[in-house]
Amino acid sequence: MCGITGRIRSGNAVGDLMAGLENLEYRGYDSAGLAVKNGHGIDVLKREGEAAELRALVDQRQPSGPIGIGHTRWSTHGPPSDANAHPHTGSTDRVAVVHNGIIENYDTLREELKRRGREFTSDTDTEVVPHLVEEFLEDGAEPFDAFMSAVDRLEGSYALAMVVEDTDAIFATRNGSPLVVGLADDGYFLASDVPAFIEFTDQVIYLENEDVAVLRPDSHGIFDRSATAVDRPIDTIEWSSEDAEKSGYDHYMLKEIHEQPASLNQTIHGRFDPTDESITLDEFEPGDFSDISRVEFVACGTSYHAALYGCHLLGQRGIPAYAHRAGEYASNPMPVDDETLVIGVTQSGETADTLESLRRLEDTPARTLALTNVVGSTAARETDDVLYIRAGPEIGVAATKTFSSQVTALALLSERLHRDITGEPSERSSELLGSLSALPGQIGSILDSDPTAELIKKYQGMDAHFFIGRGIAHPVALEGALKFKEITYEHAEGFAAGQLKHGPLALVTPNTVVIAVFTGDHDEKTLNNVREVQARGAKVIAIAPEDAEEVRDTADDFVSIPSSTPELNGLLANVQLQLLSYHVANRLERSIDKPRNLAKSVTVE
Ligand code: F6R
Repeated sequence: MCGITGRIRSGNAVGDLMAGLENLEYRGYDSAGLAVKNGHGIDVLKREGEAAELRALVDQRQPSGPIGIGHTRWSTHGPPSDANAHPHTGSTDRVAVVHNGIIENYDTLREELKRRGREFTSDTDTEVVPHLVEEFLEDGAEPFDAFMSAVDRLEGSYALAMVVEDTDAIFATRNGSPLVVGLADDGYFLASDVPAFIEFTDQVIYLENEDVAVLRPDSHGIFDRSATAVDRPIDTIEWSSEDAEKSGYDHYMLKEIHEQPASLNQTIHGRFDPTDESITLDEFEPGDFSDISRVEFVACGTSYHAALYGCHLLGQRGIPAYAHRAGEYASNPMPVDDETLVIGVTQSGETADTLESLRRLEDTPARTLALTNVVGSTAARETDDVLYIRAGPEIGVAATKTFSSQVTALALLSERLHRDITGEPSERSSELLGSLSALPGQIGSILDSDPTAELIKKYQGMDAHFFIGRGIAHPVALEGALKFKEITYEHAEGFAAGQLKHGPLALVTPNTVVIAVFTGDHDEKTLNNVREVQARGAKVIAIAPEDAEEVRDTADDFVSIPSSTPELNGLLANVQLQLLSYHVANRLERSIDKPRNLAKSVTVE
């Protein structure tokens, strides 16, 4: 959360910085700002609200200069406002700083700086940084040393970028929050994430924790905290700027839902062969997991639901598995041993709670694996192993295609673990692999028919939306409810179907709609739960395989999915739920790609 951009090359920085901020808005959109070195000083422009508000200010004030930094904010310290927007300056406009993360000792630093006569103009933790730098500059330090000395005083997680009045450079560092340098033919870019500058270059350097980067018009240096130069590899990004555009769709979310046949093809490409039932995960040697006896997942939000789905896939193959909410696990880790595989499921690879959970395992014998979409992300770099889901960039804040790719990759990994542990394929192997090949096409047929667009018109003005399911349908119901509440702002909850009668049934009224997910496993029991809510007046929309006749006859409305194996029917049902949430949110004219109060990459605990 919070997006940083930076740029140092010929021409005016403002256009590049604004484009970068607009491409990073998925990381936060409470306010936006930029600082541009104009030849004799620094112009700082910032505004509460989305980057569009800043653009209006930029059009009016026309700042200009080749070096600049920018920021789009997701508020942590202090409400969204012009004053709390980044960049922040010190007592003069000599130094401007943008920041992502939380400076935990800001209170102490702020009091100390105030005692020395520094005046603060915002409620943010960030503002201590330019004041500290300014003090060191006033004491005669060079900008690089002043930056290093200021950063030395900080505790917490942060990515920082700074420009200084009389120096043609951008100074940047990270600890916990991501930063990536883009190398262009005529200069450099800096950003929290690659979409900020992918239209200009695909050559990048991912900064490591505690790296300090100094970008000058024609050179760059990366140093450790003792100012010793360090070498970092240059990576090539394998997707293009078109992948990160809306391509004619009204919203990124709708585009990403529709991308699922293609993104799943990428996820599975070359990883299995249904004819001889081989599974090739290039990341691992055959037999790599033979010592593993149980799997623990740590994840948040949608990724947690994918992890719960993964528990079912592993459990059905006789491998004990448990999914932890990373925010809890980071505070209360469970005992592990050298037969435990801990999988951090994280699309971005930057979620603070998930990273912290994985870090808690550093001094244990457990093996850690990151299941992530983002090459070079912190999770990918800090774990023993990584399995990429290869879904392509996901810009909409609500995760859609990455959930499908996470579950699909977990299906393959589960089968692979079973083979490594037992020496033979599971009894579900051929059914799973055969069905996986058909999955992208089946999702394509759901997207073509899209029945929920029409159906939702019948269900306007309901008080509550309950999503229920059993077995694999349970994480799908939880995911359906999360998506629904996230983008429609309507009340929604997900429940294990059998749980309703232990409390939630008290909430059911004729103004409740129950969305029941069926996968072909345990359907009879879920149907009983459907009848129980219908008896209390609720209306039921069933999402179920096309041949589920009894479900069709019992539910008030029936949304069919093509028949696959019960293990994958959950994924197909989830696509219908994604579309359902999308259509309701669209009808309510919600901010679908940037839901209120949310950000895509949650880099604070
Ligand atoms: C919901 C959503 C979030 C994320 C969660 C974890 O649509 O996107 O719940 O799933 O913040 O993010 P990652 O997967 O990046 O760790």
